[in-house]
Amino acid sequence: MKVLITAGPTREALDPVRYLSNRSSGKMGYALAEAARDAGHDVVLITGPVSLAAPDKVQVVRVESAEQMFEAVRTHLGDCDAAIFAAAVADYRPAEVAPQKIKKAADELVLRLVRTPDILGSARSVFGFAGVLVGFAAETTDLIVHAQEKCSRKSCDLIVANDVSQPGIGFDSSDNAVTLCFADGTVQPIAQASKMMIAREIMTVVERLQKHRDSGRS
Ligand code: CTP
Repeated sequence: MKVLITAGPTREALDPVRYLSNRSSGKMGYALAEAARDAGHDVVLITGPVSLAAPDKVQVVRVESAEQMFEAVRTHLGDCDAAIFAAAVADYRPAEVAPQKIKKAADELVLRLVRTPDILGSARSVFGFAGVLVGFAAETTDLIVHAQEKCSRKSCDLIVANDVSQPGIGFDSSDNAVTLCFADGTVQPIAQASKMMIAREIMTVVERLQKHRDSGRS
């Protein structure tokens, strides 16, 4: 199958030298791209700025902002059978991008932020994607409840839920521990392991979901 994966953070420009971003390393998304490739799938990896090497034999599309990631997903989603949205997309961007470097003046500077497009939330409703749709959820409380709500609100088949309050896993670490929350309400925990091991397990589940979708269609 052909699999689209988003990875890494986005950068939302404030002026020519500054941006708002987050601590995402891109490791989970890159591990998923490698796991999908190793399982014999064609992979398009749409990535925000990270310090990881591009995986071999994967089509890599580099973007910076949420808006650019949205457009890249729109371009590439059409012929994909599955899409996994592992990117930590900024939910807000500065309302105005200053054309010149902002000089310091007053003691306080107030930034006005506006929402970015919800890329995962647009996959079905805006892009008409009919393949297997997987999102991620980073939560600090009520992991399963929030993940299940996200799963139905964004019409996903699966949400990979991350408890980011636990030390040693999640953002920027090499390990992760996740709970898979399926659209039918079932949950499946995956114990702490390397992001590569977790990625392989997620890909096995995505393949199963895809077969199920295919058999439902015939
Ligand atoms: N996502 C996206 N586009 C956005 C924001 C998020 O595609 N503008 C995707 C992420 O890649 C991830 C999922 O949506 O797969 C996360 O959903 P989101 O509702 O943003 O959850 P959180 O980031 O956990 O934030 P919150 O709980 O504040 O909604």
